Amino acid sequence: MKFRNFKMVDYVVFGRGSFDQLQEILAPHRKEKFPMIFFVDHFFQTKQDFLSRIPAEESDEVIFIDVSHEPKTIYVDDLTSFLKKKYGTISGIIGIGGGSTMDMAKAVSLMINNPGSSKDYQGWDLVKFPGVYKVGIPTLSGTGAEISRTAILTGPERKLGLNSDFTPFDQIILDPELIYNVPKEQRFYTGMDCYIHCIESLSGTYINEFSRSYGEKALESCQKIFRQKDQWDNASDDLLMMASYAGGMSIAYSQVGVAHAVSYGLSYLLGTHHGVGNCIVFNHLDEYYPEGVSEFREMVKKAGICIPQHVTSGLSSVEFDNMINVSLGLVPLWENALGKNWREIMTREKLRELYERL
Ligand SMILES: [Fe+2]
Repeated sequence: MKFRNFKMVDYVVFGRGSFDQLQEILAPHRKEKFPMIFFVDHFFQTKQDFLSRIPAEESDEVIFIDVSHEPKTIYVDDLTSFLKKKYGTISGIIGIGGGSTMDMAKAVSLMINNPGSSKDYQGWDLVKFPGVYKVGIPTLSGTGAEISRTAILTGPERKLGLNSDFTPFDQIILDPELIYNVPKEQRFYTGMDCYIHCIESLSGTYINEFSRSYGEKALESCQKIFRQKDQWDNASDDLLMMASYAGGMSIAYSQVGVAHAVSYGLSYLLGTHHGVGNCIVFNHLDEYYPEGVSEFREMVKKAGICIPQHVTSGLSSVEFDNMINVSLGLVPLWENALGKNWREIMTREKLRELYERL
């Protein structure tokens, strides 16, 4: 048996106000003549108070990342070639935002040093060379993108991450003050991404004590935030930020499962945002995660959220086939969820029937 040799994020800072330590953290990584590039979620474009705290020097550049859609390989390729043309290379990239912005930062960092298109690296361990220095700063918590060894991209043929040991950030800054202003629905959907990570990790066949210890802690935190406490209470920001981290750590040494595998197909075709897509799918997974789904429904009710329904009605057979192909391509997710014989359980027909119900 071969055990995973888990590459983690190198450095972590945690604490309220720790964002202001960024300048000092970046200083030793600045290479003469090559700028630091700040990828900032476009949500902050008009937030002058926050923007003025970004320690960009004169030669640095702040680029607002359009996260209206999930990150695409073409967006990564365009930004990479823009930066290479303009600067040759860069000192590093700092991704400030949610999962999409952080994944864009990871992907462009890798593509600066790897030839070709990012679509060539969608898969497991295809990236050949380390990227440039990269820092992740979440302003939205739940996806676990701050800790993951992937950068999830939608390409021409598939939605699949750049999974590699070169993908994790060199540094992350976890400052709970930064998630203060997240709109309520978004906070809920991204929080549920974390909840679903825990359920899928803890009930998967890949589970082990390493993953369980993080998964149980993250699950308990999600339950505190979304069942017991008032989830909009900002005292829970610290807890949510650490739940996202721990949930991410849990799936990093196990895997996600049915909700993610099905939701990837959905967002490949319809562009559904990850957290929303997961909730749409999870709502129909009583057969696989009965306790998790019933607790999920309680949390949805408490939050007063309306999970979208009938999102696949009217799709053509070709479109259903596209979603099914993307989903069934995610072999490790299915194997974790249903075991080695997953193909006998999740047939194309059964998956089609599930997609039709969404
Ligand atoms: Fe997720």
